Amino acid sequence: MTEIISSYQSRITKCANKKKSPIILALDYDLDNDNNSYLLDKCKEIVTITESQICAIKINFHLFLSLSYIQLLNLNMLAHKFDLQSIADIKLNDIGNTNKVTVTKLQKLGFDAVIVNPFIGVTEMKSIVNYAHSIKFGIISLVYMSHPTSFEGYGLQISSTNAYRKNLDSIPMYRLLYSYARSSGVDGIVIGATKIDIIKEISELHEIKIYSPGFLTQGGSILEAINAGTDYFIVGRHILNSSSPITDLKHMLYQIEKAKKI
Ligand code: XMP
Repeated sequence: MTEIISSYQSRITKCANKKKSPIILALDYDLDNDNNSYLLDKCKEIVTITESQICAIKINFHLFLSLSYIQLLNLNMLAHKFDLQSIADIKLNDIGNTNKVTVTKLQKLGFDAVIVNPFIGVTEMKSIVNYAHSIKFGIISLVYMSHPTSFEGYGLQISSTNAYRKNLDSIPMYRLLYSYARSSGVDGIVIGATKIDIIKEISELHEIKIYSPGFLTQGGSILEAINAGTDYFIVGRHILNSSSPITDLKHMLYQIEKAKKI
């Protein structure tokens, strides 16, 4: 493995500037086919077609459960060949030792960053962020998910007795998770594109880059998200199922540029 000298944040910024695109492609192929070389070929094909319009790929359980170690490595090597970053979306949420081993193995597989679930608490968050940064790996943490019923978790009003919030009677869960993200120094946070008010509230603090999934197929609007403060736009099925992925990506980029100028 070649030595990594810059941080994940500077790498993704560089990729986004070079490609002039803040779009991250979620490779969520759901193929009713046991042939995993066909799946790998499909992923490589869409990455090759779209690489000029995106800054990163995102891989989650769709592929982890189907592709082999070598195939995942192969896909990440292709992403790097095209100057793209690769994010593992496994919403990591375990004890410290397991988190550390997982990050080490993800990096060996060619990943640049992982999405974690901050429910592990601020102490474990700090520990995994410190370790990840020591090996130039990125940590992105959930703040508010995109699905319609995410308020059942992220929107709960909680009374917290921990050191961070002992003076407050009750706060929404997502604010506590955000405070964990900020204190631990993560590289980014995830707020669903369907939660415009939350994106706006958090982006006004100008502290951490916001990654938003949930566009188009899930109903999120590019224009509303960019106006609210989304930095990176995650999109999957709208592009994977498109008959013209490049046209659709160019249209997304046009909307992003247009909104920036308003
Ligand atoms: P679509 O097809 O809806 O894909 O464009 C969205 C991708 O993003 C993932 N996803 C999330 N990941 N926090 C995350 O970390 C979220 O709130 C969230 N919502 C969607 C989804 O699994 C898919 O890969």
